[in-house]
Amino acid sequence: MTAAPEGLRFLAAVAEIPLGGLAFTYQWGPFPAGGVLVRTAAGVRAWRNVCRHLAVPLDRTDPGRLATPDGRHLACGEHGALYRPDDGVCVAGPCLGARLRPLPVVVRDGRAYLDETALPDPLAGWGGP
Ligand code: FES
Repeated sequence: MTAAPEGLRFLAAVAEIPLGGLAFTYQWGPFPAGGVLVRTAAGVRAWRNVCRHLAVPLDRTDPGRLATPDGRHLACGEHGALYRPDDGVCVAGPCLGARLRPLPVVVRDGRAYLDETALPDPLAGWGGP
């Protein structure tokens, strides 16, 4: 296994990211946190695994189920919010128009990494869920 470049944490080989997204955990300053890695036509994206309606993981009601069965949308099992995987915008549900919080992901040699050096200050946060 190749060592991850400094500041980057290996998440998955791009070819192995499942259609419905891949949940991962990371350390956000002192806080354990969760993310969702997705492969889209626009490239690889990573989002915080926190719904924009209420601050709960998208898969809280069904761990590991992050998307609709066809993989077209990330989905929150709590109240049914649907998000576009490529830009994180909620297109249906109680948080219509809100956007999932992006996580810094980079791809090198077909491998996706979380850029831990580019995470926002956990004490400043994103100003909400
Ligand atoms: S908590 Fe996600 S839709 Fe309500």
